[in-house]
Amino acid sequence: MKIIRTIEDLTLEINAIKNSGKSLGFVPTMGALHHGHKTLVIRSVSENDLSIVSIFVNPTQFNNATDLDKYPRNLEADAKMLESAGCDYIFAPNPEDIYTADELKNRFEFDFGGLDTVMEGRFRPGHFNGVVQIVSKLFQLIQPDKAYFGEKDFQQLAIIHRMVETLKMKVEIIDCPIIREPSGLALSSRNQRLTTNQHKNAIEISKVLFESSNFVTKLSPKELSEWVIDKLNNVEDLKVEYFDIVDAKSLQTITHWTDNAVGCIAVFCGEVRLIDNFRYNHHR
Ligand code: PAF
Repeated sequence: MKIIRTIEDLTLEINAIKNSGKSLGFVPTMGALHHGHKTLVIRSVSENDLSIVSIFVNPTQFNNATDLDKYPRNLEADAKMLESAGCDYIFAPNPEDIYTADELKNRFEFDFGGLDTVMEGRFRPGHFNGVVQIVSKLFQLIQPDKAYFGEKDFQQLAIIHRMVETLKMKVEIIDCPIIREPSGLALSSRNQRLTTNQHKNAIEISKVLFESSNFVTKLSPKELSEWVIDKLNNVEDLKVEYFDIVDAKSLQTITHWTDNAVGCIAVFCGEVRLIDNFRYNHHR
């Protein structure tokens, strides 16, 4: 496995791969890798001749300086995990190589067709502009055949699909299911920041989401949302930021159950912000 640190070295490798006619799978990450990331890489390795993982804590998608500072970083442990997953290349650039001073100062603009104004977009203004900015740059540099994203970031995935469609990019986006601990808690790099007690309380998030599916035939989406929010706000350490039951494509709140309903949640557990989602369509 090669670790590439500069755009010049990356370009040399990508040109060689393209000339060889080999297929290339790509998993973009911000590092602090966990088993969820590993499953994306294993899938990429099984579906492509070569696989590359980027590790870059992207400053333009953070709207909170403390969150950016506290984001866990550990290249050595990440490299070990990636090697064991069969990854061929890591691209781990420095922010100054990726962005000009202007790009860091001014917000990148993209027409999200309304997908960015709800849920995460409402609470993290500019977040998805930063995500599209970095992912489009990485796609341009790496030119992957396939790119792998986890469904835990449900709204991010919808936005990446829109970006690829709008910009007519050639890459195929592969949606990969949420990976959970045996307790049900969705794997996240942020879980590392939870204390033992907070971790125990955070398990309630997925428990309550799973339990809520029992009420789909009895409660409206609005009533069910209120039930989830109320139940979680009564758990020690937890404070729900939003829980919206939306259409999986348009991401707009639904008032009646449809075949495409997904509940998306953001919860603070102490200072740590966790997200998760749950598809209700299988439970009607
Ligand atoms: O999902 C993430 O880890 C990030 O948003 C991504 C896609 C790597 C872009 O920085």
